[in-house]
Amino acid sequence: MLFQPPLPLKYAALTDEEMCDAILERKRSLGSRLVILGHHYQKDDVIQFADFTGDSLKLAKLGALQTDAEFIVFCGVHFMAESAEMLTGKDVTVILPDLSAGCSMADMAEIDQVEDAWEFIVDDCGVTPVPITYVNSTATIKAFCGEHDGACCTSSNAREVLEWAFKQRDRVIFLPDQHLGRNTAYALGIPLEQMAVYDPSQPGGGLTSEQVRDSRVILWQGHCSVHVLFTPAQCEEIRRTDPDCKILVHPECPWEVVQQADMAGSTEFIIKTVRESSPGTRWAIGTEIHLVNRLLHAYPDRPIRSLAGIQCLCTTMYRIDLRHLLWTLDELVAGRVVNQIKVDPEVSRLAILSLERMLANVSPQPMGIK
Ligand code: 13P
Ligand code: SF4
Repeated sequence: MLFQPPLPLKYAALTDEEMCDAILERKRSLGSRLVILGHHYQKDDVIQFADFTGDSLKLAKLGALQTDAEFIVFCGVHFMAESAEMLTGKDVTVILPDLSAGCSMADMAEIDQVEDAWEFIVDDCGVTPVPITYVNSTATIKAFCGEHDGACCTSSNAREVLEWAFKQRDRVIFLPDQHLGRNTAYALGIPLEQMAVYDPSQPGGGLTSEQVRDSRVILWQGHCSVHVLFTPAQCEEIRRTDPDCKILVHPECPWEVVQQADMAGSTEFIIKTVRESSPGTRWAIGTEIHLVNRLLHAYPDRPIRSLAGIQCLCTTMYRIDLRHLLWTLDELVAGRVVNQIKVDPEVSRLAILSLERMLANVSPQPMGIK
């Protein structure tokens, strides 16, 4: 995680109302030079200032389209700002309001570990999979996939990207989220017995050469600390107490949860599904709490609750707040850039290959995997 220096003391004294007024004023003064992008897991007080909101795929595409703006302030997490930085032209500066807004899942695959795994799988086991990385990964991992004829995917297009990968070769290594990889491969008809989990803390990932050769999908042992809080017991409880309630989950949830759910897909898919449902439809939703609460308020005629009884909160998304947003805008108005996200040009060149292979293989609508 990157270090975010403390903000000047004056920001601590401001009320929410003062900060909101000031942000509006800075937005007005920067005009079309500034675009604010916001991920669906952001807090309401922050997302109200986003010019565009979206899931990871939509935001990546929107980032690529912002050729006229000078600054993109990305209200999301570090890997998203990195993708925007790589997909926009050199003249666009991408800013993350709080540098400590990382993603614990992205940190679960480090480049040295992935290179060791590749050496073991290719040299010792004698097979060459297509490397696919979820966009929730560092630019270096995306570059690794780009260099080795692989691609990125998001939870909106994982199915299409895996279909593409299996047309290239008969085996895939999926980084860093084992759950998205397992859920998507299973939805494509690959049985669990043909999937192996590579544990980077073990020599050879804890796998034998036979296990690697017998698998069609090698899953990296990574996970989202928010979505693993959803459990099959919660689904059973909904089925028992409210049989008409539909269960809709994000595919970062464990396979056992996705199996019990009625539908699974990205945040954009979740929003679209609820929006298009008939009034009166009851929903139990397995994803980050800010999105669930936003849907609950947006559709009062469709009873909505979190699948979990506990608050499943992404603490890193939560770090982006009014204070940090205002500070970055104040600095821009004063002619200074803070918290610029930069990617090494060679890493960027290779990572763009994997992002472009993804963007070439996706449909315009978010696809559910179930
Ligand atoms: P999507 O918004 O692409 O569904 O991803 C969810 C997520 O966990 C982002 O980190
Ligand atoms: Fe990362 Fe999970 Fe937070 Fe998404 S919800 S940013 S995967 S920790």
